[in-house]
Amino acid sequence: MSSTTTTLKLQAIPVDKEIENLIRSSKDLAVGLSSNDTRHFGPDPDGLEILPETTRKRLTDAGIDISEGYPSRPDKSLIPIYVDEATAIRDDDYEYIERAKNADPEKKALLGAAKEVIHLTKHIGTEIVGLQLEDLTDKQKDELALLVAERVVVFFRDQKLSPQKQRELGDYWGRVEEHPQASQVNGLPGVSVIWQDYFQKSLGTGLTFKNNNLGNWDAVKNSIRGTQVWHSDLVHEKRPAGITHLHLDAIPETGGDTLWSSGYAAYDKLSEEFKKFLDGKQAVFVSAHGYLDRKNPFAGPKKVERVHPLVRTHPATGWKSLYVNRGMTKRIIGLSSVESDLILNYLFDVYEKNADIQVRFKWTPSQPGLGTSAIWDNRVSQHRSTFDHEGKDPRHGTRVTSLAELPEFDPKSKSQREALGLPLDEKDFY
Ligand SMILES: [Fe+2]
Repeated sequence: MSSTTTTLKLQAIPVDKEIENLIRSSKDLAVGLSSNDTRHFGPDPDGLEILPETTRKRLTDAGIDISEGYPSRPDKSLIPIYVDEATAIRDDDYEYIERAKNADPEKKALLGAAKEVIHLTKHIGTEIVGLQLEDLTDKQKDELALLVAERVVVFFRDQKLSPQKQRELGDYWGRVEEHPQASQVNGLPGVSVIWQDYFQKSLGTGLTFKNNNLGNWDAVKNSIRGTQVWHSDLVHEKRPAGITHLHLDAIPETGGDTLWSSGYAAYDKLSEEFKKFLDGKQAVFVSAHGYLDRKNPFAGPKKVERVHPLVRTHPATGWKSLYVNRGMTKRIIGLSSVESDLILNYLFDVYEKNADIQVRFKWTPSQPGLGTSAIWDNRVSQHRSTFDHEGKDPRHGTRVTSLAELPEFDPKSKSQREALGLPLDEKDFY
């Protein structure tokens, strides 16, 4: 490098740094810490003070080093600040293997080995009893992926599951998302920590009994501060989330339930005429976090935007599912903003207000020292948490998300009820 170039580069650094620090210190933009901010990243010693005993045992049994603190907070100075940088994350092409496509449709290896298989509702949610996730063979993992694709969410109680094993399962089902901003298990990127009482204490999420559900009325006016707003995970990714696996190892005696709603059934709630109108439409999906426009950094935060089909076909079941969510679907392409808002709000309602296509799961009971797992398919569902514990009870879990295929709509695909030969009751609809 010539000395002239070196001089130019050195002169440029302080100006960039100053802008970057200004951006990172803005509370509204929330894009990361300034270099003057001394808040801790890496293992957090404060977390150890409130770490539930059951979680501590699970982590130490698994050989996770928590001697310096827990959980591990990401180095925020490395978080992208520009929207083009954020969009470039995982923008590469790679081969995705749909494991559920390799499964025996009858799922004999999985269901035959279970002590009990309990369908929690007609349309969504199944609990498997008597199997340990850590012992599943590849054949059983393929069949579980298919069961999840069909039943939308599958539960396993009384699990002895290390965070490493949970990550391994996620790697089997797809490319595991490593979140640049989420707290994680020490030394295990991709195993995110879900620990509301810790977040309340250390980050001050601002969630209260009064405000925690407001985003379910209007997610634009009431910014999403938790997971209480109906949503699907990581819709702003080029290849959004497929299977997410949440394992809770500390569970309040009462409260902290999670709800899921079926996208297959939400689609089948619509009239055949309206389905035809929506089929093939595309929508803009946005990220939860804001970033800056490099050309106009002081214009305020912008979200990563991605275009996906509004109705997508699941590659394994072949069924159509309504792919929208209140938190992150911004507009339908080709419609005016008024038309788009009206239709999207109706579609959100269909997902959120039809209790017959939802399941509400109580995580308890699991035997002492064991945890409970929920494994769901984000391509065909929405979910939300409940905040009735108000962040006061110890509730700790680890989450691993496997990203799936480039979303597609197959015009020849069928709805779930069509494919299963269930009545569509069109005559009684009007
Ligand atoms: Fe979520």
